[in-house]
Amino acid sequence: MTVIGTGYLGATHAACMAELGHDVLGVDVDPAKIEALSDGRVPFFEPGLPEVLERTMESGRLRFTTDYAEAAGHATVHFLAVGTPQQRGSYAADLTYVHAVLDDLVPRLEGRHLVLGKSTVPVGTAVELQERVDALAAEAGRGAEVEIAWNPEFLREGYAVKDTITPDRIVVGHRTDRPSTAVETAREIYARPLDEGTPFFEMNLPTAELVKVSANAFLATKISFINAVSEICEATGADVTRLADAIGVDDRIGRKFLGAGLGFGGGCLPKDIRAFMARAGELGVDQALTFLREVDAINQRRRERVVELTRELTGGRLIGRRVCVLGAAFKPNSDDVRDSPALNVAGSLSLAGASVSVYDPQAMANAARVFPTLGYAGSVEEALQGAEVVVLATEWRQFRDLDPAATGELVDERVIIDARNVLDADAWRAEGWTVAALGRALN
Ligand code: UDX
Repeated sequence: MTVIGTGYLGATHAACMAELGHDVLGVDVDPAKIEALSDGRVPFFEPGLPEVLERTMESGRLRFTTDYAEAAGHATVHFLAVGTPQQRGSYAADLTYVHAVLDDLVPRLEGRHLVLGKSTVPVGTAVELQERVDALAAEAGRGAEVEIAWNPEFLREGYAVKDTITPDRIVVGHRTDRPSTAVETAREIYARPLDEGTPFFEMNLPTAELVKVSANAFLATKISFINAVSEICEATGADVTRLADAIGVDDRIGRKFLGAGLGFGGGCLPKDIRAFMARAGELGVDQALTFLREVDAINQRRRERVVELTRELTGGRLIGRRVCVLGAAFKPNSDDVRDSPALNVAGSLSLAGASVSVYDPQAMANAARVFPTLGYAGSVEEALQGAEVVVLATEWRQFRDLDPAATGELVDERVIIDARNVLDADAWRAEGWTVAALGRALN
């Protein structure tokens, strides 16, 4: 098989498919990515992936190329794993990369091929892509027959290897107006997880596309729900973490994704809910998803709240105040800063005049590229040095385990905002700290 697009999703998928025993060619137009991967280097932080890459490359089952002619000759199954970012100036998804892959690949194909889309796309895309590849194949005149099917990906950063090799479920959407080989082929590809009992769902193309965006919209809604309740807790003296524990034991609700705090970011949830709304508008059913606007707004308000809280704790003026922001990645165990709440807060504080010192165990280089004007410290101790307020913005283990007494020796003022609700507030207060948090009245 080929895996086209070797970013976060594609590189992980390629390595994991080779780990399952397949003969995999990873394809990308970016020579830098292909060079790094061919040298056995993963160009982003993902626990466990470097080991899988090394093992599978040594076995000879995994190679990488920038050459589409090689890709066309290598396999009859092609995974599509390119990005579908938010369009500039609009909420809709940008399908440029998806189209470019098919335009490069299909004219080079001969015989029967199956393209399994993994990228998150607006509902209706796969049907359009089938028309596009039919036209491309006819124009090329090589007699190729190319089927488009959809096999959405649900992996979480930080657990990408586990989520790919032992997924919660395998979803395959296939065409219904002509014969399809997608289900049979997918069952063969995923034989190992299927033997181990992974649920398999076969469905039509629009359903498969919608499964992915609905899952992400639900997760975003769950987080924003608890963060909305958090605002009420702040206005009333209630404690959102105790509340979440108590409602979360009801297994219809569940405690997961009820972590109140700075909210969601990353390369998926924010852009996916916006693209979902944009698509609903195009379909004339925008009212169905108007609530996602509110989900997005609640999420953004949490970032503003942390900036406001920092201002309150510096006596109302941020100008010139030294603020330490712990975390830049959108979540722990990741170096991804796309739409990162932590980096957004650090940036807003800096724009409001504060002198900001940021530290993150993995995301420093990415953060500095996106926001070069912030102060970046070489260590957590250096970031804390002389701070008047500390903001814990990403809940890395290293920050959760900070010792309140030792940390107190480094800062100027013992004031901390636990924006992820992960610290033992009593232990910190016992060392003379003022502890503020989201959704909890602590002092
Ligand atoms: C998500 C989906 O989980 C995954 O299934 C999909 O394929 C891609 O998008 P990911 O972006 O890696 O994965 O991150 P996830 O672990 O879902 O966290 C998303 C964001 O929500 C993070 O910023 C996290 O900090 C935040 N979050 C999560 C909360 O604020 N509270 C919670 O309780 C859980």
